[in-house]
Amino acid sequence: MYNKLVSAYKGKKIFLTGHTGFKGSWLLKTLTILGADVKGYALAPENEENLYNLIQGDKLCESVIADLRDKEKLVSSIKEFEPDFIFHLAAQPLVRLSYEFPAETFEINAIGTANLLEGVRALNKPCNIILITTDKVYHNNEWVYPYRENDRLGGYDPYSASKACAELVINSYQKSFFNINNYHEHQKAIAVGRAGNVIGGGDWSKDRLIPDIARALGNNKKITVRNPVSVRPWQHVLEPLVGYLLLGEKLLADAIKYAEPYNFGPYGEDALPVKAMVELAIEIWGKGEYEVPQLSNQPHEAGLLKLDISKAIDQLGWKPQLNAKKAVEYTIDWYKSFFEDKAGMDKYTEKQITGFLNLN
Ligand SMILES: NC(=O)c1ccc[n+]([C@@H]2O[C@H](COP(=O)([O-])OP(=O)(O)OC[C@H]3O[C@@H](n4cnc5c(N)ncnc54)[C@H](O)[C@@H]3O)[C@@H](O)[C@H]2O)c1
Repeated sequence: MYNKLVSAYKGKKIFLTGHTGFKGSWLLKTLTILGADVKGYALAPENEENLYNLIQGDKLCESVIADLRDKEKLVSSIKEFEPDFIFHLAAQPLVRLSYEFPAETFEINAIGTANLLEGVRALNKPCNIILITTDKVYHNNEWVYPYRENDRLGGYDPYSASKACAELVINSYQKSFFNINNYHEHQKAIAVGRAGNVIGGGDWSKDRLIPDIARALGNNKKITVRNPVSVRPWQHVLEPLVGYLLLGEKLLADAIKYAEPYNFGPYGEDALPVKAMVELAIEIWGKGEYEVPQLSNQPHEAGLLKLDISKAIDQLGWKPQLNAKKAVEYTIDWYKSFFEDKAGMDKYTEKQITGFLNLN
């Protein structure tokens, strides 16, 4: 896998949005390991302990700190750079925050995506574009069957709906401006990556399970667990990131064939209840306790949602490398190292990435 990705990305210009965020920082580090030349576009990292700062992100890329809603800035940043690839990860990604700021969530996630695609329209060169949405774009029927790429889109909470809106925006731009039937004229290939919840070191978001666990365990506090019986598909952050990179590599080889949406999720047996995940994390850390508070008036959160990953396995040659236990191990090991030696986290993160890429 490692060599294949080096061949695709070494020396290539990559425009990466959301490079200061959790997934974006992992992708930035991975792309630089592969030898790519990266320009990032996002808001400033939120705190000192942000993964972006730990990996010294400013030294790894040309970093533009700006808002997706600033269309002029976004379009000119893309146009000036003339990227070979665009990975669009920047978003307001939190369900709970989307209940507090619904209109802003729609502006950032849906209109922000349209602004990015305006940047693509301004480009006079071939470019492969991978837009990152989520498993939550599917209309959630709360059924036991995994969702396929051609299932109906929807979204109950504003975050999910904003990402489903982003998909409609993408679809419209694909058909109207970058129609695959005219590929040889515009030479823009657009694909979508839909991944489920991911875990991994360096995520400090509020209201996400693993960051909550890490903060509690690192500070000798009890873990508070909401929704203990909710079943979620868990996967390590490097799994979908390698999926997005493979998708980009395939677009490079055959843009017309692969310019489509792809699901990236764990195997079915790695969809586990939240409670089982917490118990596993405590076991790996070696100590810790949790409590389940009685909460009332909680905003609606979708229940069961599994992704069918057959298409990515069959067409991209991608497959999950780490089962749930291994994914939690990778993640908890990262946080343990962080609490022991913050200064060493750049090297530690690099070691996890190269180890992962060589698994394949
Ligand atoms: N983490 C997950 O479990 C998960 C699951 C499914 C999908 N996703 C998707 O993956 C992507 C990355 O998520 P993450 O977990 O790294 O989130 P994150 O909050 O860690 O990072 C978000 C990034 O977007 C940037 N951003 C936010 N608002 C912006 C704005 N108005 N203008 C410019 N940049 C802005 C931030 O600065 C940051 O770089 C998102 O599109 C998210 O919806 C994440």
